[in-house]
Amino acid sequence: MNRIETVRQQVDEILLSMPDAEERRCGYVHLYGVAQACALLAKKRGENAELAVIAGMLHDIYSYAKMDSTDHAHKGAVMAREILESLKIFSEEEMETVCTAIYRHSDKAVTQNALDEILKDADVLQHIWYNPLFAVKQAEQERYEKLMAELGIEKDGF
Ligand SMILES: [Fe+2]
Repeated sequence: MNRIETVRQQVDEILLSMPDAEERRCGYVHLYGVAQACALLAKKRGENAELAVIAGMLHDIYSYAKMDSTDHAHKGAVMAREILESLKIFSEEEMETVCTAIYRHSDKAVTQNALDEILKDADVLQHIWYNPLFAVKQAEQERYEKLMAELGIEKDGF
């Protein structure tokens, strides 16, 4: 089994234990949607798609595991570190890269390292493309416009 699938099993285990079916659905859609957007952006930018997908799958794990989004990026980095350490298949450097991206993913107004930015942008893309009929949030507008330019999407249809 490759490492993405190994982490996916852990994420699935947490999501499957959520009692509320609607929240569980949101968890699957968001975590795996962000993971897929992470793959797209990592490939586009020539970055490590494996670590990007893993960061995407784990980035909001705390919110769904605890049903509490307070300070979830920082608490989620701790939880992700525990999960990754328990698997014993990642180097210290890899865990640091993934957990740093998770720790910083709510800081969308600042630009940080390559994986941090992939995760923030993927989070924004999933929010917006989950339902393109919803209005884009003010806080996500600037990143969204930059992403559309980067992806060569000039025409914003409906
Ligand atoms: Fe998120």
